[in-house]
Order: sequence, then structure tokens, then C-alpha cells
Amino acid sequence: MRLANKTAIITGGGSGIGQACARAFCREGANVVLFGRRKQKLEKTAHELAETSQKLGSRVLTIPGDMTRSEDLDRLVHETRNTFHRIDILVNNAGLFKGAPLHEISDDQYDEMMNINMKAVFQLTRRVLPVMMEQKGGNIIHISSILGIIAVPQVAAYNISKGALNQFSRSIAVEYGSYGIRSNSICPGLIETDMTADLMKDEALMQEWSKGYPIGRFGKPEDVANTCLFLASDESSFITGTVLPVDGGFTAQ
Ligand SMILES: NC(=O)c1ccc[n+]([C@@H]2O[C@H](COP(=O)([O-])OP(=O)(O)OC[C@H]3O[C@@H](n4cnc5c(N)ncnc54)[C@H](OP(=O)(O)O)[C@@H]3O)[C@@H](O)[C@H]2O)c1
Repeated sequence: MRLANKTAIITGGGSGIGQACARAFCREGANVVLFGRRKQKLEKTAHELAETSQKLGSRVLTIPGDMTRSEDLDRLVHETRNTFHRIDILVNNAGLFKGAPLHEISDDQYDEMMNINMKAVFQLTRRVLPVMMEQKGGNIIHISSILGIIAVPQVAAYNISKGALNQFSRSIAVEYGSYGIRSNSICPGLIETDMTADLMKDEALMQEWSKGYPIGRFGKPEDVANTCLFLASDESSFITGTVLPVDGGFTAQ
């Protein structure tokens, strides 16, 4: 098993990409900690994973909480350490996607986007790093976006937040490599999840957008989860500071 004896925190682990990562990590033997605001979603995912984790001798822990509340982040790190005594992998996946013309984005809307997609990630990572430094090893994976590499109209705050996240990931890689800590960003293209469900109802728009994907389809949560599993495993032990598109070739053009 590729993640035996590893403990992984996955933010936003109750849905979409985070949930697919939880499934992949659990299958490979990791203890998985699911964090997010909706308790029911976390518990449903944990219930689904219970049989596999029991069989493999690992555990799934759910910790409901809000990324933007520092006391919730403290509790997440504290409870994970209390239960598993280590944090080997942190998947910074929780995120918000909202759009509006740039000149109409209010200060509050900008703050909300940056607080969830960047500031909270900074704050959680800052809490996890000392644990990884003490262990002399760790692995941090950020679920960014192709919109952290390229920009599209109507989502300026999102573009900025994911661009900053990629730079944050590189900062960790160069500053903590000597502790055996790796940090990488995954940049998905359009993936079929709750976040994009409304968008995807617009068939004409999807028809148009699909032309931008050389591979001929949009992505599935598992496409991102498989990449995340590779980056979380020792198979990628010489890879750090990368910004990796998982986008069916969208950004290759
Ligand atoms: N789907 C795409 O096309 C796509 C493309 C590129 C990048 N991404 C990125 O992929 C990541 C996952 O998105 P997804 O597509 O899987 O959509 P999703 O199913 O809506 O997942 C978003 C997750 O973030 C959690 N979350 C949001 N705000 C939070 C907060 N304040 N505190 C704690 N958790 C919070 C949500 O859980 P709760 O609501 O329960 O808190 C939810 O589980 C996001 O960072 C997104 O930007 C998605």
C-alpha cells in the first residue's frame, strides 16, 4: 500500500475532489481526517470508507469546522495529533468559486474569496508545519486551479486567490525542503463536482468550453485524486515546488 502508516488531513473532504482524495488515500492504507463545515457530508463519506479502513487497520476521523475560524483550525491540528500522533499529508482542498465582473466585486466578496482560498490555507499550513518539522518530514498538496496559471474573465478574485496559492506552495517548498517537507500545487481544469454543477447545466456553454480541452472531455474528481495520490506517495519523492495542471491539455495551448 502506497500510504500505509500515513495520516492525512483533507480539507473539504466531504465532497467533490476532497472526497475522491479521501477514497484514494483510504484505499492505499492512510488514516484520513476529513474537515469541512457540513457534518453530514463528512460523516457520510466516513461511513462509506469505514469498511475499507477497518480491513486495512486504518481509521477515518471527521472534524467539522470552518477554515476561516482560527479556533477550528487549532482544533483540527490538535485532534489529529491527539488521535494519530502525526500529520504526514495535508491536502489544502477546501475552496470557494464565485464570479462577477471585476469592477462589481465588493470588498466583502473579495475578502470572502481570499479568506477561504488563501488566508485560511496559510493559517492551517502554518499550524501544521511545526508538526512536520518535528517529524522531519511531511507532504503538502494544494488544490489550486488552472485559473492560478491563466486568467479568464468574470472571476478575478478567484484567479488571484489561486495564483497566490501556487506561489505559497513554492514558498513552502524552498523554505522547508531541508526538513524533508514537500509542497506541490495541482491545477485542475473544469471538474464535474458540486462547485460546477450549475455551470454544467448550460449545454451550449459546455459545448463551447469543451473545444478548449484537447483530450475531448472535462475532468472527474478521480483525475485529480489520482494525481494527489501520486504526489502524496513516495513515488514522487524528488518532486516539490511544482505547479501541475490536470486539465486535459487546456493550458498547453
Ligand atoms: N470543480 C472544478 O472545476 C475545480 C477546478 C479547479 C479547482 N477546483 C478546486 O478544487 C477544490 C475542491 O472543489 P470541488 O470542485 O471539489 O467543489 P466542492 O465539492 O464544492 O468542494 C469544496 C469543498 O470546500 C469546503 N469548504 C468551502 N468553504 C469552506 C470553509 N469555509 N471551511 C471548511 N471547508 C470549506 C466545502 O465543504 P463545506 O461546504 O462542508 O464546508 C467542500 O467540501 C476547490 O479548492 C476548488 O477551487 C475545482
